[in-house]
Amino acid sequence: MHDIQLDSSGRLRHLLTLDGLGAARIDALLARAQAFVARPGEAVKRSDILRGATVANLFFEASTRTRASFEIAARRLGADVLNLDINISSAAKGETVLDTVRTLQAMNVDAFVIRHAESNLQRLVAEHVAPNVAIINAGESHANHPTQGLLDALTIRQHKPDIASLRIAIAGDIRHSRVARSAVHALTALGARDIRLVAPRALLPAPGEIPGEYVSDMDAGISGCDVVMMLRIQKERMQASSIPDFAEYHRQFGLNEERLARIKPDAIVMHPGPMNRGVEISDSVADGPRSVIFEQVNNGVAVRMAVLATLLEHRFA
Ligand code: CP
Repeated sequence: MHDIQLDSSGRLRHLLTLDGLGAARIDALLARAQAFVARPGEAVKRSDILRGATVANLFFEASTRTRASFEIAARRLGADVLNLDINISSAAKGETVLDTVRTLQAMNVDAFVIRHAESNLQRLVAEHVAPNVAIINAGESHANHPTQGLLDALTIRQHKPDIASLRIAIAGDIRHSRVARSAVHALTALGARDIRLVAPRALLPAPGEIPGEYVSDMDAGISGCDVVMMLRIQKERMQASSIPDFAEYHRQFGLNEERLARIKPDAIVMHPGPMNRGVEISDSVADGPRSVIFEQVNNGVAVRMAVLATLLEHRFA
């Protein structure tokens, strides 16, 4: 079956999902990202490889990290960037996403970075754009957030290179989480065998929907883990009646100092952000020595540079 993410010569053309992308391509993106990493205080890596390219950010849902890091990444590679303000765009007059993309494509935009609440929206757009245009999924409903999955895998690998040996817990609102799905896609491709999905029963996915061991007891779920990835309660994807009592949720599923004793002494704590402090994670854990949360943010720029370079550089070299 033709993979819409690849062009006719097998080169990565769009990035819509990590599901089925394969270890070799994920590995290549992570290796390239690692070369772009610049920690705070270090000189940033700049290049002109995308000089002449135009990247448009179309965010139909809120974002700080993803949108800002795609903009920074594109500029560091020499590209021009358009951040369309959806609230004052013609989307507010009822223009379809496809017509918005076709309109900007007519202005020679080369890549669209799209976040949208609707499943399959990015795939639909990818099926209709011109052959020279790339679509990058920056968050799709509960289904995919591939660059987040890549930056999470990169962060884990920087601390714990032997992914196959790790016990990894992803804890929180798994049911509504595109972050969890893309992390599992990346980590299983890279060989992870022991992934625990930890949540109250109401926030677990349907049985078998995501590979991993489903656990409804937080203490048991994180016990002996090398990596604990905490997730935000996604109120925007729940009915008001389903939103849990936050104090009770923190008591049962929040990662606090007491619970840290259950994970390995050298375990790392992750969170994709934005955090609900005091709900899924306490301040002291979020800001504590095991937290790599701001390393994840830092790696996000490098990953997005790697993705943009991989998809576009052959046209601008
Ligand atoms: N992790 C993440 O996607 O954050 P933003 O919603 O701020 O982009």
